[in-house]
Amino acid sequence: MSHRPIAAILLAAGKGTRMKSDLHKVLHPIAGRPMLLHLIDSVARAGAARTVVVVGAGREQIEAAVAPLGIETALQAEQLGTAHAALQARAALTGFDGTVIVCFGDTPFLRAETIAAMTARLDAADAPRIVMLGFRPDDAKAYGRILARGDGTIVKMVEYKDASEDERAVDLCNSGVTAIRAADLWPLLDRVGNDNAAGEYYLPDIVTLALADGDRAVVVETDADEVIGINSRAELAYAERRWQDARRLQAMAGGATLIAPETVWFAYDTKLGRDVTIEPNVVFGPGVRVADGATIRAFSHVEGAELHEGVEAGPYARLRPGAVLKAGAKVGNFVEVKNAVLGEGAKANHLTYLGDAEVGAGANVGAGTITCNYDGFFKYRTRIGAGAFIGSNSALVAPVAIGDGAIVGAGSVVTNDVEDGALALARGRQEIRKGWAERFRRTMQARKAAK
Ligand code: UD1
Ligand code: MG
Repeated sequence: MSHRPIAAILLAAGKGTRMKSDLHKVLHPIAGRPMLLHLIDSVARAGAARTVVVVGAGREQIEAAVAPLGIETALQAEQLGTAHAALQARAALTGFDGTVIVCFGDTPFLRAETIAAMTARLDAADAPRIVMLGFRPDDAKAYGRILARGDGTIVKMVEYKDASEDERAVDLCNSGVTAIRAADLWPLLDRVGNDNAAGEYYLPDIVTLALADGDRAVVVETDADEVIGINSRAELAYAERRWQDARRLQAMAGGATLIAPETVWFAYDTKLGRDVTIEPNVVFGPGVRVADGATIRAFSHVEGAELHEGVEAGPYARLRPGAVLKAGAKVGNFVEVKNAVLGEGAKANHLTYLGDAEVGAGANVGAGTITCNYDGFFKYRTRIGAGAFIGSNSALVAPVAIGDGAIVGAGSVVTNDVEDGALALARGRQEIRKGWAERFRRTMQARKAAK
């Protein structure tokens, strides 16, 4: 890694019209996180001390998304091209004297290691003035082309619109990612003009100007998948698929069993222990941690949840934010858990809603139990003690506490606290009328016959 400080300029002022969306293109999520935040994470991991996002169209949305991260924005009022966009970050980077990495907001998979390779190349003994990131896609489409010698020395940069047939036949494409010292960047950007097919200020023109000055610019190459641009919903879905494929392999390499990997969907921050088993069709939202030896059975949806060692969840479990299943706890089919802790070995095996609750160790929550946590205005908590037994089809009307070892009779509607070791029955008392059914049937059959 380079010891020179790094600043990143992320260009995101374009409209992204091909996405046909009210949501800004770079805020469309991949693996549960806006694509721009994937990129911000990469540049942070590469050691960027400063990050400036250049915004224009839909800027309020981007500002709202990056403000909590303490990331600065710079305004490009009119979208006049990528060089013009980069120039808008100058004021924000006043006094910065290190290496600048310019990236495009719609290229979210750029890896920190690639940025490190570029900065290392910039600081190599032959001291090139600019390092560009190139790639060779299967279909070079309308990407800008890089004409370079075998050793990576750039001879010419040309946009597709301005390229000759021969130049278009070149398969080395420009990803847009650029590494350059701040002291070189600003004077070069100042000199870029817009006398070209698009009438735009092109960022790659800084290379053309550097070459004209007799300086060296070089290309570093990377995988096409890392720098695919995302412009449409179809490209977004493709990018998601590639991300998921890679994450599934990583999960298995880390010691998780995925029975049908292609049906499991991870979030960007899913954490899995060893010997975790994930059955088919499981979807992870953000914020999930799964400890060693846990099993998540088919068709479960898990988000913002902690599953400790040896937990079993599903099939058809819904674990929502704040769900914590302590070691050996079990949650079965059609059970929803939200903002609730299940103690060690506690069980809720069927058809249950546990919201805003604490369930003590070893407690057993019967089928159809509902914690009634909401009165239409406020939320309330339910506490179920260790070793308690909640009979099936009970409604626990919060706020309410069931003591340790207490038993709630099936079908109860519990509105008052139950003390430790007590039995609570809160339902209509059963009445038996001997022979009543037979008499009733005889009477009715006779009436029907008389008609
Ligand atoms: C650009 C490159 C091209 C490269 C390709 C890689 C230029 C001139 N061309 O073309 O060489 O092969 O990316 O994907 O740089 N943006 C602004 N302000 C502007 C214009 C663009 O912020 O005035 C932002 C966009 O929001 C986007 C990025 O810059 O995130 C790239 O712009 P885009 O118009 O997609 O450039 P391409 O035509 O794809
Ligand atoms: Mg583009």
